Amino acid sequence: MPGGVDLSVTVGALRLANPILAASGTFGYGVEFAHLVDLNRLGGIVVKGLSLEPMDGAPAPRLSETAGGLLNAVGLQNVGVRAFVAEKLLALRAYRTSVIANVFGRTVREYVEVIRVLEDAEGLAAYELNISCPNVACGGFEFGIDPQMTAEVVAAARKAARRPLWVKLSPNVTDIAIIARAAENSGADALTVANTYPAMRVDYRARRSRLGNLTGGLSGPAIKPITLRLVYEVCRAVKVPVIGLGGIEKAEDVLEYIVVGASAVQVGTAHFSDPRASLRLVEGLERVCSSDKVLSVRSLRGSLGAEMH
Ligand SMILES: Cc1cc2nc3c(=O)[nH]c(=O)nc-3n(C[C@H](O)[C@H](O)[C@H](O)COP(=O)(O)O)c2cc1C
Repeated sequence: MPGGVDLSVTVGALRLANPILAASGTFGYGVEFAHLVDLNRLGGIVVKGLSLEPMDGAPAPRLSETAGGLLNAVGLQNVGVRAFVAEKLLALRAYRTSVIANVFGRTVREYVEVIRVLEDAEGLAAYELNISCPNVACGGFEFGIDPQMTAEVVAAARKAARRPLWVKLSPNVTDIAIIARAAENSGADALTVANTYPAMRVDYRARRSRLGNLTGGLSGPAIKPITLRLVYEVCRAVKVPVIGLGGIEKAEDVLEYIVVGASAVQVGTAHFSDPRASLRLVEGLERVCSSDKVLSVRSLRGSLGAEMH
């Protein structure tokens, strides 16, 4: 308990040394950052989304900065689940940090197949299902915008998985509580809230999009207040733990998510300006808690509206 502050949290049965995890797609497979960051000091690492086969991703440009945020259209490029297990996971096992595998597919069957491959591997703490993906069997609509499709993919993944199952919700919905309950009722152990917001940037002179894929997903500080409200809504709607992420840059941002009910948080876009952002946040959180006389970060969870002492 360095500095007299207990930073440890639990997400269901999983205990994390602190509530800061690196978010999927912004921290590679973790190992690429090992020369810059002591991975053992992070609460956890959520790896880049894994599909059954390797994927090349979207055409360049894939990133475009906007006021207070970042647009990305990476197109879920990844090495594929088998190469992840053979190369990346093997290297990650040298660290004691919890590793969470982010999983996606174009059909329910593909999600299940990816999990089956991971089930045979050692060194993972949980799965995180990215349900912001088009379901090719259902007209290309995102799984996560429909309670029925959400229920179907979560139930199938639940049957295939022995490990804890986190479900990462899409923010692109009218009432996130309905989707959150569908995921909980189908066996999710925790909910991650949320993914990026569909968005666009254009160069009007060139009459072109700033992204090779035309549209992309908005992340970073611009989305924090919007996602904070979604985390608050989801925490009121379900009993399972919630992991909040969107625009976190400072220790105070982490505490805002925890006060509205999050058990832990993830840090994404902040890694693009500072690859050490998540570690810096662990240190900052300890400092802020210590100066605010907060002895345990867990004690703040869901305390919105509670009396200050
Ligand atoms: C370049 C980039 C790639 C991403 N790739 C993934 C991914 O593979 N799977 C996923 O579930 N989320 C992915 N995300 C979404 C982030 O994990 C996170 O949900 C989002 O960026 C909001 O958090 P932030 O504002 O802290 O970045 C990606 C985000 C960015 C910026």
